[in-house]
Amino acid sequence: MKIHSLGGYFHEYQKSVQNPEAFWSSIADNFYWRKKWDKVVDWNFAEPNVNWFVNGKLNITENIFERQLFTRGDQTAIIWEPNEPGEEAQHISYRELYEKVCQFSNVLIEKGIEKGDRVIIYMPMIPEAAVAMLACARVGAVHSVVFAGFSATALADRINDCEAKMVLTSDGNFRGKKKIAVKAVVDQALEHTTTIETVIVAQRTKQEVTMVEGRDIWWHEATEGVSTENKAVEVDSEDMLFILYTSGSTGKPKGVVHTTGGYMVYTSFTFKNVFQYGEGDVYWCTADIGWITGHSYIVYGPLLAGATSVMFEGVPTYPDAGRFWEIVEKHKVNQFYTAPTAIRALQAYGLDVIEPYDLSSLKVLGSVGEPINEEAWHWYHDHIGKGKCPIVDTWWQTETGGILISPIAGVTPTKPSYATLPLPGVQPIIVDNEGNELKGNSVEGNLCIKFPWPSMLRTTYGDHERCKNTYFANFENLYFTGDGAKRDEDGYYRILGRVDDVINVSGHRMGTAEVENAINEHPLVVESAVVGFPHDIKGQGIYAYVICEKDVDSSDEQNMKKSLIATVNKLIGPIAKPDKIQIVPELPKTRSGKIMRRILRKIAEGTTSGFGDTSTLVNPEIVNTIIEGTKDA
Ligand code: WTA
Repeated sequence: MKIHSLGGYFHEYQKSVQNPEAFWSSIADNFYWRKKWDKVVDWNFAEPNVNWFVNGKLNITENIFERQLFTRGDQTAIIWEPNEPGEEAQHISYRELYEKVCQFSNVLIEKGIEKGDRVIIYMPMIPEAAVAMLACARVGAVHSVVFAGFSATALADRINDCEAKMVLTSDGNFRGKKKIAVKAVVDQALEHTTTIETVIVAQRTKQEVTMVEGRDIWWHEATEGVSTENKAVEVDSEDMLFILYTSGSTGKPKGVVHTTGGYMVYTSFTFKNVFQYGEGDVYWCTADIGWITGHSYIVYGPLLAGATSVMFEGVPTYPDAGRFWEIVEKHKVNQFYTAPTAIRALQAYGLDVIEPYDLSSLKVLGSVGEPINEEAWHWYHDHIGKGKCPIVDTWWQTETGGILISPIAGVTPTKPSYATLPLPGVQPIIVDNEGNELKGNSVEGNLCIKFPWPSMLRTTYGDHERCKNTYFANFENLYFTGDGAKRDEDGYYRILGRVDDVINVSGHRMGTAEVENAINEHPLVVESAVVGFPHDIKGQGIYAYVICEKDVDSSDEQNMKKSLIATVNKLIGPIAKPDKIQIVPELPKTRSGKIMRRILRKIAEGTTSGFGDTSTLVNPEIVNTIIEGTKDA
């Protein structure tokens, strides 16, 4: 079903709220089910227990391949654009992709992977990464993709948490000018895990790697001579499709669990509608498959919808800042989906790098991952879209599986920095801190969702209580997003950012507690507090206040900071690197020993006065000391 007009949108929205079962079953009917569901949805948010397409049996890859091969066999499924512009792009048809997926499924089975087993994918943006995900899905295994920029420690934590049996990786990774060791990180991680039986290594950079006898095998050797026919394993709608780890306000990242049937229906439906993907279009999402955007809108959504999806190995600024626009021209991209941080970074290079390229193929521009500021919105609209492409500012989360609030391209009138209206089937509600619904328009508060949608998370892996406490315990019978939002006089939603201790750095979610825990591992650190601060390009930067064991004199300070950054790199990865570190003698604390983060946030923003009531602090004098020290951060 595709919505073509604003009237059509309101009509479908009404239907989806009045009779969600009829609405979603008519969409799910377009897929191939080995056995149809008994009930569309069965749910409560108290436990929570959410089931969609109850007792339906299917395989998601049969819906990408077998269902579409007859009509789309020769159509390009993936255009793979390598890091080096000089290296030839690959056009992989649906039939070729099908054969690669079948063949690799046979390898997985041969290596002992069974339905329900967890497989870690720690790979750069190469076609094998998509093949790996789909082959897992085909044999009923659960993939957990770990972004290849995470450190060995972060990788080991994830392997241990889900007790994975296998790691799929590559020798290395080309990223801009850099050649990054990937397999070596896996080797380090596996020194701290016990469950991995096999490591399959795709060859990409041809750099030297160590292969452990009996455990490690090359992808090209494992697939050699293996049949390209494979019968998909039948799974239940509610069988796990994947686990994706994401940061929260407390503790270690949690494994968000997505299941099969609802995720399939929702990602495909939202892909087609939000981007208004049309037959023959070329769609490009610049995300990495290590994040939810890569899962839902590079791989599953587009391929389920029979689209041609571009997958790019490199970075926006290599060999120069015109690289994105060169690719748009080269592959005649029609829908382009990226993050505000990339837009802001490219904006800084000026218009000269855009000028040489013909961007007339573009029809729709998308934004995801963080609020898009008005200036970036206008720049994107005027200089990339040349004033004629609608911008879809898509709001969603790892936990939501798919886009929840967004314009439908060309249908919903847009407004800069507004995600606009909920998609059909999505019922947002804004509540105050006590959980009272703020009705009507022109209200601001905590954004929650009051009715399930098919691709919502089902649990957090191995810890259902945590799922309940994080998302369903704040406000009774509501899914709490962690975001603040405003609904304006037109009923449009504007996302105001996180209301919890999660920060958003270059569109990547980071728990302040996670960064603090890493810093605290440093032998000379007594305590630390991490907050976000406004950053021109990244949206938010990471500001760390650190108390050290002994007085670090100013000549040592630079070394101490370097050493702290190295600790964060080792425990999480370069994406968690603090932008500013300030060594402080104490942190502002309340009598009960709680750090007053509100004050630290304000100081990090550059505020020097007006901190409100500080009388509950045991050490109010520290505030001025910290303000004075900000110049050295
Ligand atoms: C933020 C990414 C404003 C938000 C798909 C959310 C956004 C978090 C937008 C989820 C948007 C995402 N406007 N903020 N269009 N999209 N966010 O799990 O704070 O990596 O809670 O999922 O990013 O980040 P995640």
